Amino acid sequence: MTHVLTINSSARHATSASRKLTAQIVQSLNADITTERDLSQSIAHINEAWVGANFTPAEDRTDTQKDILALSDALVDELIAADVIAIGLPVYNFGVPAAMKAWIDQVARVGRTFNYTENGPVGKLAGKKAIVAFASGGTPLGADYDFASTYLRHILGFIGITDVSFVTSEDQIAALAA
Ligand SMILES: Cc1cc2nc3c(=O)[nH]c(=O)nc-3n(C[C@H](O)[C@H](O)[C@H](O)COP(=O)(O)O)c2cc1C
Repeated sequence: MTHVLTINSSARHATSASRKLTAQIVQSLNADITTERDLSQSIAHINEAWVGANFTPAEDRTDTQKDILALSDALVDELIAADVIAIGLPVYNFGVPAAMKAWIDQVARVGRTFNYTENGPVGKLAGKKAIVAFASGGTPLGADYDFASTYLRHILGFIGITDVSFVTSEDQIAALAA
């Protein structure tokens, strides 16, 4: 049973190259369960109340603090439930779209997606696979000014997802599925 979570972040829809590629990734995986999170539909930015709620031990949180963390908990639950995560990554101004950064701030949760240990932070989401559909204009994947793929690979590793592939074309998706 394979559960694929798609995370799209392009502001564009019908004409989006990254959305087209994530759809092809999902198709190639023959998943039993598919879910999608569209980050272009606004992910709240974290604020002071969110940080306070996050650093309050779960058992001491007020109902208000639980409500403040409800979206973050739902986004983390989606990640935990998935075996494979297909991520659409349009390059915006040499980095990840602001909507994706907002999602990252919501899912990098101590105690839920990583823990602090004597040996430093350790990600909790090991064993999952991420396939990233990279779409750009003049910033090729791997260029020294491509801060998008390096940052996304790093943050996925931080939460324990170290099996990460980047694709830029349909041919590469076919090769991955083979
Ligand atoms: C706001 C904005 C900023 C962009 N910045 C870059 C950039 O820094 N480097 C680049 O190669 N392409 C840049 N592009 C082009 C997009 O990466 C390219 O159009 C890509 O196909 C977008 O993904 P999408 O087709 O899924 O929307 C930018 C596009 C937009 C809309």
